[in-house]
Amino acid sequence: MKVTEQAFTGRGLAHFFALSRAKNVPVPFTARGGQSPVNGYETELIPHNGNNTTFSPLAHKKKPMDQTLSKTRQLIDLEEQYGAHNYKPLDVVIQRGEGIWLWDVEGKKYMDCLASYSAVNQGHCHPKIKQAMIEQLDKLTITSRAFRNDQLPLFYKEICEITQSHKVLPMNSGAEAVETVIKAVRKWGYTEKKVPRDRAEIIVAENNFHGRTLAIVGFSSEQSYREGFGPFAPGFKIIPYGDSAALERAITPNTVAFLVEPIQGEAGVVVPPAGYIREVREICNRHNLAMILDEIQTGLGRTGKMLAEEHDGVQADATLVGKALSGGFYPVSAVLSNNEILGVFFPGEHGSTFGGNPLACAVARTAMRVLVEENLIENAAVQGEYFMSKLRDIDSPHVAEVRGKGLLIGVVLKDSAGGARRFCEALMDRGLLCKETHENVIRFAPPLVIKREEIDWALERIRPVLQMD
Ligand SMILES: Cc1ncc(COP(=O)(O)O)c(C=O)c1O
Repeated sequence: MKVTEQAFTGRGLAHFFALSRAKNVPVPFTARGGQSPVNGYETELIPHNGNNTTFSPLAHKKKPMDQTLSKTRQLIDLEEQYGAHNYKPLDVVIQRGEGIWLWDVEGKKYMDCLASYSAVNQGHCHPKIKQAMIEQLDKLTITSRAFRNDQLPLFYKEICEITQSHKVLPMNSGAEAVETVIKAVRKWGYTEKKVPRDRAEIIVAENNFHGRTLAIVGFSSEQSYREGFGPFAPGFKIIPYGDSAALERAITPNTVAFLVEPIQGEAGVVVPPAGYIREVREICNRHNLAMILDEIQTGLGRTGKMLAEEHDGVQADATLVGKALSGGFYPVSAVLSNNEILGVFFPGEHGSTFGGNPLACAVARTAMRVLVEENLIENAAVQGEYFMSKLRDIDSPHVAEVRGKGLLIGVVLKDSAGGARRFCEALMDRGLLCKETHENVIRFAPPLVIKREEIDWALERIRPVLQMD
């Protein structure tokens, strides 16, 4: 059934949807059961002093906002009321960003020590990337891949040159790049390796994080990512991370690929033993497997190299990038590969309406150029080493280990520390935004534009927090 906008707000359907979706909202006006912005009003907040003139707070006024609440509280309440609760953010509401700095709706300034999980390596609202985006916005934003556009070929050439890849396939989110490479290596296995149809196996690592789609959570070892979402796609085998002997043991004649992160970011900035990535390369060569590195978080300068694989002097058969390819502006991800892996696709076998659109390409081209021209990769190496060594110098009863590479740093807390969350909240109070990864790790991953004196500023705040009771 095709449902038009008008039909959505019509009585019959509205009632139907209200019954099915509006479990907790007693306002069955619209398809989704909540108050609808159909009358064109805009939601703004009531200032703390209650003197609101510009705002028509949710015109239906079923649930007027409490005028005594701060802006932060009002916005959090709205988010909690209307949004799915699939995240547990820190209770800070950001309004503005520039470089490594963020400002919340109360005007308080913070240093961003997460960089949106590396999506904003170039720093917030980078003026050159912004300019490129504006210029492209004035010309053309999307053609779909039904037609060609003048940005895509240049993006292809530049990203392949910068990463020494033969071929590229652009998508939007990181998870889509992962899904894309899974399709590619399966097909490569059937056509090149002659694996029997539908029997292809892909080996992955324990505690992996590759995104949130069904295929991906299906091979996660993290129960909370999977629970309640089955059934899952078959064809994946999980082995311990950092254990090349386990990889060799897990290979069967049907194995087509090993998918792994060069450093496990979400698992808590887990750095594998020295030489692991090189051993993986050798094993993949020996057994004719596609080696896939997920560099969606580690790539594009984060670890002090354009790609983390460069630390080990290897090239994967397929490398995935995303996040910072956006410059923090517009989602762009990509599979980079040799000729064989992406060479399996023929027209109609894979695609994305938005993948490779000219706006995305213009943004990504400038995002890459900024990394190189502003020496952000070298800066990540130098400042990362300084930051990590100074963190290691902090005499704290709570810290078990400081680990990482470049500006991807994890401070691992002892079990007795009471979890990383309370430390992140204390850092937030002092003007530093960090996020816990897993229970016990505080991740420090600021934009790569950070300077030494800014790291010193951060350390002055981190030290007392790591020393608190
Ligand atoms: C290593 C890795 N792969 C894949 C993803 C998924 O990317 P996205 O959230 O853009 O789908 C992430 C996100 O954190 C990641 O860290």
